[in-house]
Amino acid sequence: MIGEPLIVCDGVEYGYGEAQDGLALRGVSLQVSAGEHVAIIGPNGSGKSTLARHLNGLLRPCAGTVRIRGMDTRDPAHTRYIRQTVGMVFQHPDSQMVATVVEEDVAFGPENLGVPHAELHTRVREALEFVEMWDYRDRPPHLLSAGQKQRVAIAAVLAMRPACIVLDEATSLLDPRGRADLGRLVAGLRRQGTAIVSITHLMDEAAVADRVVVLGGGLVVAAGPPRDVFGDAERLAVLGLDLPAATALALRVRREIPDFPVDLMSVDEIVDAVAGRAAS
Ligand SMILES: Nc1ncnc2c1ncn2[C@@H]1O[C@H](COP(=O)(O)OP(=O)(O)OP(=O)(O)O)[C@@H](O)[C@H]1O
Ligand SMILES: [Mg+2]
Repeated sequence: MIGEPLIVCDGVEYGYGEAQDGLALRGVSLQVSAGEHVAIIGPNGSGKSTLARHLNGLLRPCAGTVRIRGMDTRDPAHTRYIRQTVGMVFQHPDSQMVATVVEEDVAFGPENLGVPHAELHTRVREALEFVEMWDYRDRPPHLLSAGQKQRVAIAAVLAMRPACIVLDEATSLLDPRGRADLGRLVAGLRRQGTAIVSITHLMDEAAVADRVVVLGGGLVVAAGPPRDVFGDAERLAVLGLDLPAATALALRVRREIPDFPVDLMSVDEIVDAVAGRAAS
């Protein structure tokens, strides 16, 4: 169920250095609703990570606003609430571990929020069970695989009971199995109503989102349902971006069969399209 606006970015500008270095974000407006899965794609350096860091106040806009449930990220009084509402998971699993034992790592966030001890235990257990890492609770994080570390990182965020989780290339260092595990996890979170913002260079990951936002040069250059965004293959090609495997295959088939549909997102949809033609 997609609900009320959770994150509202309005004309966000951000520059890292002096003004003459150019801006990393040049007026980005974007909305994420409660329970929605938004994928952000774009070439290297297009501003994806910079935007991600604005979504929970790690960075604050030089111009424009970011509001989380109406709260402006520039107001330090809201920082705690915002960090709790929007959790971040980054690319490097190691950089996110703060404790020497998995269980303590997951407890760290809610403990800092002042969650009472009894509830803390429940939260940690629920979070670790959700990511199927409860059995590893006594292990030192550095002995885990990259995929397991990312699952613990997600548990650490879940223990804060966030309304939204932002994943910045969280699967990019994982093997295919770790990636598939994380994909299932994200789908499960989405089903239970957590909003997801996933930044990815894997178009197959973006294809399962409710909405895809394409950044180019610090601006939103396209946005819409995956079918619409990936259906415009030429625009993506200009940006040097790939297509989901199914869309690429459909486009290839269209070279032989000119009226073959190209806005196909999955193997099943391709099979249906082929079967439909065979039947007619
Ligand atoms: N810490 C920083 N200091 C200075 N400039 C930075 C910093 N981080 C990013 N930039 C610059 O800001 C722009 C946007 O970078 P950003 O990391 O947001 O892009 P990205 O889309 O996440 O790229 P990638 O796909 O490589 O992760 C780039 O020009 C980059 O060089
Ligand atoms: Mg990045």
